[in-house]
Amino acid sequence: MRYPAFLPLSVLILIVFISPAIGWRPWPHNKTEAYDSIYGGSKKYEGSSEFVHLRYHMGPVLTANITVHTIWYGTWQRNQKKIIREFINSISAVDSKHPSVSGWWKTVQLYTDQTGANISRTLRLGAEKNDRFYSHGKKLTRLSIQSVIKSAVTARTKPLPINPQSGLYLLLTSDDVYVQDFCGQVCGFHYFTFPSIVGYTLPYAWVGNSAKQCPGVCAYPFAVPDYIPGLKPLKSPNGDVGIDGMVSVIGHEIAELASNPLVNAWYAGQDPSFPVEIADLCEGIYGTGGGGSYTGQLFNGEDGATFNMNGIRRRFLVQWLWNHVVNYCSGPNALDQ
Ligand SMILES: *[C@@H]1O[C@H](CO)[C@@H](O)[C@H](O)[C@H]1NC(C)=O
Ligand SMILES: *[C@@H]1O[C@H](CO)[C@@H](O)[C@H](O)[C@H]1NC(C)=O
Ligand SMILES: *[C@@H]1O[C@H](CO)[C@@H](O)[C@H](O)[C@H]1NC(C)=O
Repeated sequence: MRYPAFLPLSVLILIVFISPAIGWRPWPHNKTEAYDSIYGGSKKYEGSSEFVHLRYHMGPVLTANITVHTIWYGTWQRNQKKIIREFINSISAVDSKHPSVSGWWKTVQLYTDQTGANISRTLRLGAEKNDRFYSHGKKLTRLSIQSVIKSAVTARTKPLPINPQSGLYLLLTSDDVYVQDFCGQVCGFHYFTFPSIVGYTLPYAWVGNSAKQCPGVCAYPFAVPDYIPGLKPLKSPNGDVGIDGMVSVIGHEIAELASNPLVNAWYAGQDPSFPVEIADLCEGIYGTGGGGSYTGQLFNGEDGATFNMNGIRRRFLVQWLWNHVVNYCSGPNALDQ
């Protein structure tokens, strides 16, 4: 549900207390013996667990072609928008090189509703709205986010279309905007709007650019927190740490919106106020062997940048998702597929 910000802390704990030898060596991957002894040698880790009971709670999932309507809140550079648009366009691209973003989406397509209909393979960019002048200020709360969406769908000029069945509303805030709980607890979250505020029930997600506020938390591993000495950030694939970090969080939220748009479909845990969803279960896992303090096996480009999947023209680093058929996290760059 929420993309929590606690990962680097758990990373610290693992590095310091379990095995200083694990380190962060994305590629070539060389498992240490310590790592093997923690996770049982050849046992598939990647989050696999007999304790995870992801359940379907009978609510809808996004089975119709999905349209993503984007609100750019604050100050955005053209190139930043391009990177994010291309990531979203890559989700349904047919001809990207393997391992691809569309291959990553196949895990999402495995989820169905009670009629047996799968989540749509088609997701495309819809209308966009620029909120350049910070209509609700530079500090947003969870509720004022809904007011920003209301302004966008009721604007006098070019309002965003109202599309409750297959629309997904993505609010992206620039690096100078603080959103309630940003950095401390979350890097993004998703929910649905209330008719009392917006007039409709619309699934939406918020993701913030953390570049100026907490890149070591929300743009990890392209930036690292100060409290982990000696840990080197990885080079980001599109030359913008904040945006490359947002891409994985956007992927996280879109995957969860598709499988749990009204927070009554696919999640684990007993408490619907704190659902653990298909991306929550695989946070910090980007490749084979990932888990604990280790990202899993990644690729290093000629330019030294780290990535795990290909988009239409660009490369991205995006976390894996829970595959409920096999009961572990999976992604397109898995070595055994
Ligand atoms: C992995 O580690 C072993 C033992 O330290 C070493 O012999 C081997 O060359 C390493 N492989 C890679 C790919 O670094
Ligand atoms: C639809 O979901 C079922 C159940 O998870 C799965 O077996 C099937 O492969 C999915 N279809 C597609 C097109 O992904
Ligand atoms: C959904 O998208 C596919 C392309 O992937 C297209 O062929 C189909 O006509 C679309 N369906 C609707 C109802 O728009």
